[in-house]
Amino acid sequence: MNLTQKAAAGLGLARVRVLGHRVPVAVRMNLCNRCHSRCDYCSLPYTPTDEMSTDEVARIVRDLAGLGTQCISLSGGEPMLRGDLGEIVDACVRHGVSVEMNSTGYLFSRRREMIRKLALVKFSVDGSEAVHDEVRGRKGSFRELEQAIEVVKELGVRFSFAFTMTKRSLPEVPFALSFARSHDALIAFQPVMAHKHSSEDVRATFPDRADYLRTIDYLQEQQRRPGSGLRNSAQALEHIRGWPDIHGMKCWAGEAFAVIEPNGDVLPCDRIEYSAPIPNCRDKGVAWALSQLPEKECAGCGFSGAVEINMLMAGKVGILPSLLRVVKGD
Ligand SMILES: C[S@@+](CC[C@H](N)C(=O)[O-])C[C@H]1O[C@@H](n2cnc3c(N)ncnc32)[C@H](O)[C@@H]1O
Ligand code: SF4
Repeated sequence: MNLTQKAAAGLGLARVRVLGHRVPVAVRMNLCNRCHSRCDYCSLPYTPTDEMSTDEVARIVRDLAGLGTQCISLSGGEPMLRGDLGEIVDACVRHGVSVEMNSTGYLFSRRREMIRKLALVKFSVDGSEAVHDEVRGRKGSFRELEQAIEVVKELGVRFSFAFTMTKRSLPEVPFALSFARSHDALIAFQPVMAHKHSSEDVRATFPDRADYLRTIDYLQEQQRRPGSGLRNSAQALEHIRGWPDIHGMKCWAGEAFAVIEPNGDVLPCDRIEYSAPIPNCRDKGVAWALSQLPEKECAGCGFSGAVEINMLMAGKVGILPSLLRVVKGD
């Protein structure tokens, strides 16, 4: 994000908070459910869907920019599987929206021109080579990630890491933290969750609660060190201590941020089920869909992006130092 976009994002959040505007400052667009990986906690690759065309996605980007959205995060599935990703990124840039991408690092060396235009790449990492490949269900995943890191470094594109804590990957947390530090990048830790898009047997991947709590203690201790490399704030780590039952904070999904599914469904959050009908933006447009968002019934979650925005909106100043690190790109 450039300085103007950061200022506009701050102003947008203030409007949501103070005036009750329902224009999401940040939108995650899941471009496909397709994925070349088979992570043991995720069901997306087994959930076929009717993907929007390039023109439909570009129209949504234009309309979101017009409404005041400042940041679009491209995700999936694996967004790199969309052959038209370059055109989608160009649409974001053309409309002045900061564009980020969540990815495994698949095929980065083949699409440098597109990657160069991204404001931030958030790579998933699940541990050192053997564990990462095992969790991702695909040999060579870690090598691919390392090659992708080289590409973003060469291009000067900012990047960070996301780590999903499971039974298998929990012992790899110290490795992942030093891996991120060795690349001079931040890393966010989040617990594996049972949700709408998790695998059927996701609970088999849940860590033992005592081991989980020891890991949170370790992360909190690391958090106190200067240059820790941790993206989670101290308060956010305290919040996710309650896993698998995380609650006690107002969630701003559907107000400060929203999600668009590959088929055009618009949701406050894609990890929960809704009893009311879900609006689709393909025919009636994204402004209409945003005005029809269903009410959510959710006690809370541990997803790091949501937790940090919710804490900011709750005026928890303790998260400001780590938020500033993220914004400054340290
Ligand atoms: C759904 S993936 C999409 C982007 C890309 N395919 C990737 O894996 O980075 C986004 C993130 O969600 C995480 N994730 C998937 N299923 C999860 C679950 N059940 N609980 C917590 N995180 C999960 C992944 O580890 C990944 O970091
Ligand atoms: S978490 Fe990402 S890489 Fe893994 S299966 Fe799901 S979409 Fe694919």
